[in-house]
Amino acid sequence: MRPSEWILRTGFRSAARIFYRNADQADWIYEKVHRPGNVFVLGMNVLYYLARRPKVYGFVSVVLEPVSACNLRCVYCWGELEERLKDARPKQMDWELFQKIVDQAPKGVESITIGGQGEPLLHPRLGDMVEYVAKRGMRAIMYTNGTLLSGERMERLAETPLSVLNLSVEPDAETCREFRGVDLAQLKENIAAFRARKQPMTDVKLSMVAHPGNLEKLGGVYDEWGGLVDAVKISPQFGLREDARRVSCMEPWRGNLNFYTNGEVSPCCCDWFTELSIGNVAEQPLDEIVHGERYKRLLENFLRGEVPNLCLYCREFTVEGAPLRLRKRWPKP
Ligand SMILES: C[S@@+](CC[C@H](N)C(=O)[O-])C[C@H]1O[C@@H](n2cnc3c(N)ncnc32)[C@H](O)[C@@H]1O
Ligand code: SF4
Ligand code: SF4
Repeated sequence: MRPSEWILRTGFRSAARIFYRNADQADWIYEKVHRPGNVFVLGMNVLYYLARRPKVYGFVSVVLEPVSACNLRCVYCWGELEERLKDARPKQMDWELFQKIVDQAPKGVESITIGGQGEPLLHPRLGDMVEYVAKRGMRAIMYTNGTLLSGERMERLAETPLSVLNLSVEPDAETCREFRGVDLAQLKENIAAFRARKQPMTDVKLSMVAHPGNLEKLGGVYDEWGGLVDAVKISPQFGLREDARRVSCMEPWRGNLNFYTNGEVSPCCCDWFTELSIGNVAEQPLDEIVHGERYKRLLENFLRGEVPNLCLYCREFTVEGAPLRLRKRWPKP
């Protein structure tokens, strides 16, 4: 770790210790942003939003969906949305489209998160993707349900220069079974086998969604998972709700771009059906898209409070009782 990165990480962790009483929560941002210059970019994006400018100062990260299909049906994800998701776009991203996205990523982008609305381990060239991102000088971060992390798939991923492997889980065996349909003991075996083979640079973390069905269990997370992973991160559940509530948020100013298997680009990471699309990289160079009229119009509409339908139903920040971040010394139930 370079001295500048050490200072940045220590700063993030100190702030998270104060705000969340848990330094691990700083990893949400640190895993995507290592470069001190990009903290300035993020600050400028916030200023642009506060100054009501329909413009983004710069981009620091990308989220990319290699597969729009899944072997699981977690209740808050494919389990709830299968009818709408199954024909929404091609199941797999073409290798050529993937290369185009990575090659055209805006100058400041330092990390590419491989995830989206599907299971990345289903892509036959996942290992090549991680290596391609690293060769282009960016960090590859990945989200997976971990159930396919075995045999050749696990061995191939373990030999790549992956920066972070995020495993999406529930707090304990009962909730893993109930909400994700996953056998916790098997999953732990997969994680342990990956840990034994992975490159030293790869961090292994847990990613958990806080939802009304598991809030009571969050207190036991560190006991259940301690020793097997480097950190635990938690995020509030996102979903669609019927009681429409007009909101305006600064997500489109966050400096993050999301790409889907069909090449659509969106500035919101919750945009499951690309309703906030600002263009398609299969049809137009990315530089034209991010400087184009469509993005500008979207930002102008946000500033006027004229948000797309998706935002009317967005409940990313409002699931009843869900904590935004997990405290390390969460009171036991
Ligand atoms: C959609 S999954 C895709 C990658 C992979 N299949 C996995 O489970 O990690 C990416 C992340 O979104 C989370 N997620 C799924 N449904 C969600 C929801 N309704 N609200 C918030 N996060 C959700 C998952 O738990 C996972 O950590
Ligand atoms: S959270 Fe991940 S594993 Fe679960 S259904 Fe969604 S994409 Fe599949
Ligand atoms: S869908 Fe939600 S998170 Fe995304 S831009 Fe709209 S309000 Fe913000």
